[in-house]
Amino acid sequence: MNGQVRIAIIGCGGIAGAHLNGYQQLQEAGYDRFRIAALCDTSQQHLAQLAANVEEKLGYTPDCYPNIEQMLDEAQVDAADICLPHAYHHTVAIPCLEAGLDCMVEKPVGITVKAGQQIIAAAQKNDCILATAEQVRRDIGARAVNWAINEAGLIGEPLFFGFDVKTWIELDLESYAWRWRHSKLLSGGGMVFDAGAHFADMMLHLFGDIDEVTCTLQTFDTPTIDMPGIGLRPRDVEDYWVVTLKFASGLFGHWSYSRAARAHHINSSHVWGTEGAVKDRQEWMHPFEYGGDIELADGTEIPYEELEKQYLDQLSEAQRQATFPYGITAGMTIECWDFVESVAERRPPEIDGEAGQRAKAVCCALYEADHAGEPVKVADVLSGEISEYQDEINEYWGI
Ligand SMILES: NC(=O)c1ccc[n+]([C@@H]2O[C@H](COP(=O)([O-])OP(=O)(O)OC[C@H]3O[C@@H](n4cnc5c(N)ncnc54)[C@H](O)[C@@H]3O)[C@@H](O)[C@H]2O)c1
Repeated sequence: MNGQVRIAIIGCGGIAGAHLNGYQQLQEAGYDRFRIAALCDTSQQHLAQLAANVEEKLGYTPDCYPNIEQMLDEAQVDAADICLPHAYHHTVAIPCLEAGLDCMVEKPVGITVKAGQQIIAAAQKNDCILATAEQVRRDIGARAVNWAINEAGLIGEPLFFGFDVKTWIELDLESYAWRWRHSKLLSGGGMVFDAGAHFADMMLHLFGDIDEVTCTLQTFDTPTIDMPGIGLRPRDVEDYWVVTLKFASGLFGHWSYSRAARAHHINSSHVWGTEGAVKDRQEWMHPFEYGGDIELADGTEIPYEELEKQYLDQLSEAQRQATFPYGITAGMTIECWDFVESVAERRPPEIDGEAGQRAKAVCCALYEADHAGEPVKVADVLSGEISEYQDEINEYWGI
């Protein structure tokens, strides 16, 4: 492609602001292959705020649109960076792809497996690039730990993992960004589906295909909330879960989390291998985003700082350039760069729509397993064969 990639950011809420910071970091590093040419949001307030931020951070004013129809009619853009609540990923991504725009869609790329299938089909039909906005595995911490486990073999053969976090997060019942997240119909589920998309992607990235899952979910807090666009309803997404994941390789792991622990918070998140263990430094659902510390069976400790140095030292200059363009190590900035490059060069993005769909299918399999009360094969959810939990959402939105 000659000239700059003209991008429309669609959805101007929280994550759009974080993407903008990524574009700003790229511009400041001297990367000028893109322009944020347009913004689109149904909220005039969010639209105006992000437009002001683009002006302040990038030094120019994008064209603003109050809905996708007007944007597709009038805007001069090549690509869309879609930062919308999950229920609107497919309703917006599909017309964008039909209009020939390459798209990066925030995880989980569609509110159900079927919605994701339709987005992927539209990208294929229109010969468009479809990227998943998934940053965690591109962060230097996650890249270094992946290298330590899968290339350097620092903990030996991986055997099992356990991610156990019990914490307290007060429910936000007021902000738009949280009201849609309290509704299965708008979000697809709770945090198993939302931040859990990062967890699933990183587990697939580290350990390969997941064969079978079990899952038990609990919802403790059910206040009635004015859910955007669908009205008053009781909160119906999970506060607590216990999950087991059986990988095709034979590796086994469990994941348990709750936001509702009013006291005695815990974070015990490790991968164990035949020669040691790696402990995750963070407690949210972004595994190894901030790296991990290694402890070997003989008592040797490798703190993350040393691990990161070892990882960087063994990269060739060409690998460094490709992995951390302009020396940038923040996953979200790399994600924005990768999308622009894939559009400009007509090359596949590092994390395409199918990869997003595979991670989402793991999350959906967890809901399906809880719903069915028995173990579920991830492949059966990815193919659409098992969908009982998701059927209500598909019916509501006509998917
Ligand atoms: N990668 C990450 O770490 C991360 C973090 C947060 C959110 N996300 C993802 O980003 C996406 C958006 O989340 P968010 O936290 O930014 O949500 P948000 O509620 O803060 O922002 C969503 C925006 O979309 C707008 N909107 C809603 N429907 C619209 C429509 N039909 N057309 C145009 N605009 C519309 C809203 O007015 C709002 O401004 C989700 O997919 C979420 O999972 C990713």
